[in-house]
Amino acid sequence: MIVLGIESSCDETAVAVVRDGREILSNKIRSQIDTHKIYGGVVPEIASRAHTECISELCSQALEEAKLTIDEIEAVAVTSRPGLIGALLIGVNFAKSLAFSKRLPLVAVNHLRGHIASNYLAYEKLKPPFLALIVSGGHTSVVKVKDYTDMEMLSTTRDDAAGECMDKVARVLGLSYPGGVALDKLSQDGVAGDYKFPMATVKNSPLDFSFSGVKTAAVNQIHNFNQKGESFNRENFAASIVDIVTESLISRLLTCVEREGINKVAICGGVSANSMLRRKAELASEQYGFELFIPPLSLSGNNAAMIASQGYYELLQGNIADIDLNAIATCGIN
Ligand code: KG4
Repeated sequence: MIVLGIESSCDETAVAVVRDGREILSNKIRSQIDTHKIYGGVVPEIASRAHTECISELCSQALEEAKLTIDEIEAVAVTSRPGLIGALLIGVNFAKSLAFSKRLPLVAVNHLRGHIASNYLAYEKLKPPFLALIVSGGHTSVVKVKDYTDMEMLSTTRDDAAGECMDKVARVLGLSYPGGVALDKLSQDGVAGDYKFPMATVKNSPLDFSFSGVKTAAVNQIHNFNQKGESFNRENFAASIVDIVTESLISRLLTCVEREGINKVAICGGVSANSMLRRKAELASEQYGFELFIPPLSLSGNNAAMIASQGYYELLQGNIADIDLNAIATCGIN
């Protein structure tokens, strides 16, 4: 089955065509990084307008690259939740119009499930059950993937996402947006542990994450250095903050692995590109004996191929949306 996927939940407009949930026929992404860079973060209204300006053109390009016409598409899958509401609505309305005019099934896809599906595109052999660590600019969760459409959230962040924490620290360090990438680069020349940050735990919820305290502590420390005119080692500072964030991610993930007794782990979302996280995950997989799946950098960030992939599995399950489908800003894994 050939599914056209649409993604517009944040600052990437993306359209892709995927066969049977696994084979990418085309994957077009238009990033808005240059547009938002001058503000140091995503401006929601600007993001929505930018999606409107290019979604139709990207759809044509995705079909052209797949060497297909719209009449050969068998379903339309779209990210309907969670994300910036205005941005989501652009994709949802475009998908609804397309599906309605061509009489195609419309599938609403949870963006977090989409990130998990990025690993189906990268690894043919990956099949549920497995555990997924989703780490991006807006989300941090560990999910038990019992089946393609049957999932349980084991752990989530109580405040900021890991990506948000690293992006904001990077911004105060004067690094360019999106900061996570630049912080990763800077940290590679530093030594972790020179600067100390608290690793927050959530009372009575040992599996949950919390990154707002670490973020504030790091930001305050940088402001303090600057106000006193004290110099500090930026590389070691970057390495120390990335170390504490990735330690928090890996330690909770390992607790979930032990508790659930599942020997397959997939890591996904934009932050899965982080080099220290990848190194620690690989080491943990050797030590704890689980099989590790991390998508290539081309699929770790937001893209529409992952939405088409998950859309295919939702469709197999009969999860077809009505024409009154709406966008939802916040949700869990369902
Ligand atoms: O999945 P994604 O493209 O969008 C969301 O759904 O949020 O993730 C974007 C996030 C940003 O916070 C960005 O800074 C982060 O992924 N990111 C990284 C790296 N590459 C992207 N964070 C740390 N290290 C990286 N190499």
